[in-house]
Amino acid sequence: MQSWSSCQRYQEVFSINLEHNKPIKVFEAFAGYGGASFGLQKAKIPFEVVGYSEIDKDAIELYEYNFPNINNFGDITSIDECNLPDFDLFTGGFPCQPFSTVGSRMGELDTRGTLFADIIRICEHKQPQYILLENVKGLCVGKHKPTFLKIVSELERIGYDVRYDRLNSKDYGVPQTRERLWIFAYKGKLPEGFVLTPPAIELKYRIKDFLDPELEEELYRTQKQIDRIKELHGIDMFDVEEPLCYDYYNRKLRRDALCMTVTPPEHNVIRIVEPMRDGKERVRKLSTDEHFRLMGFVLNDKFREIKYPPTLGYTKLGRRAGNGWDVNLVATLFKHIFSQL
Ligand SMILES: C[S@@+](CC[C@H](N)C(=O)[O-])C[C@H]1O[C@@H](n2cnc3c(N)ncnc32)[C@H](O)[C@@H]1O
Repeated sequence: MQSWSSCQRYQEVFSINLEHNKPIKVFEAFAGYGGASFGLQKAKIPFEVVGYSEIDKDAIELYEYNFPNINNFGDITSIDECNLPDFDLFTGGFPCQPFSTVGSRMGELDTRGTLFADIIRICEHKQPQYILLENVKGLCVGKHKPTFLKIVSELERIGYDVRYDRLNSKDYGVPQTRERLWIFAYKGKLPEGFVLTPPAIELKYRIKDFLDPELEEELYRTQKQIDRIKELHGIDMFDVEEPLCYDYYNRKLRRDALCMTVTPPEHNVIRIVEPMRDGKERVRKLSTDEHFRLMGFVLNDKFREIKYPPTLGYTKLGRRAGNGWDVNLVATLFKHIFSQL
């Protein structure tokens, strides 16, 4: 089987009916590395980004390295909606720390949890035809549910038909368990029978198919570090038949050959366990390319879907990957949405 890293393009041909076949004008809020742009590009949907909003210096550097000459409107809370150009699609994976299990879980009490108010303020004024929002699955359950219902009712109040679902990367081609909440809002009424959830695809890949053939030695843990993990986690031996993900946080080897959710390296919980070599255990961190491949990017000798600026190193790039959108899933979602409109 062709491995992910060696295949260039994997999307099937599909048809979309864009109004007058004009490129979709996009405003990419909370842009990160540009998950919406990469997704649209991967889906081969004609688009033009008329502006983006991002405040993180490293994210801006990575974004501009890949998508130069696009105006950054900066902090969304300071944007005057009257100064924005017109756009058809507003995208935004608004900060998830307030709702995620690894974040503070303070919800709306944490000011980052109120940034959706700026989404509403901008979209109420600009009235784009489409809005695509993303957050962690924790936003729509438990104590955050009232916030989530408020987001939905606010979108409805400003004139949108709203659909949402929780989608998992492993159901769309990438061997990573990454479940995220996706909210799609359409100005006016969605066509009868519109379904937001793309049909799941049988997973053909295991994590080993997403790993680098050659790795830097510094990614490997020393025997002393491995012994420490074994002692702490009560493990006899790290011995596997094929490379598997070890979930450091939950102290378990993923025998399902999936990667646990990719998180920023400061949470530092993903380990790859490789088959023993010369009687020695092999446990390591993910490489930068592996982080991004697991976020849906195609990266191999012939084709590199994302370029890294020379100024950003391992930790900064890993942080952007852990905060990013799975661009394979985004492409699938965009194709599915626009093929119905
Ligand atoms: C979950 S990440 C979004 C990732 C993005 N969708 C991607 O594909 O990489 C949220 C982003 O919002 C940015 N952000 C946080 N507060 C912001 C604000 N007030 N204005 C604009 N961007 C902000 C963060 O720097 C972070 O990159």
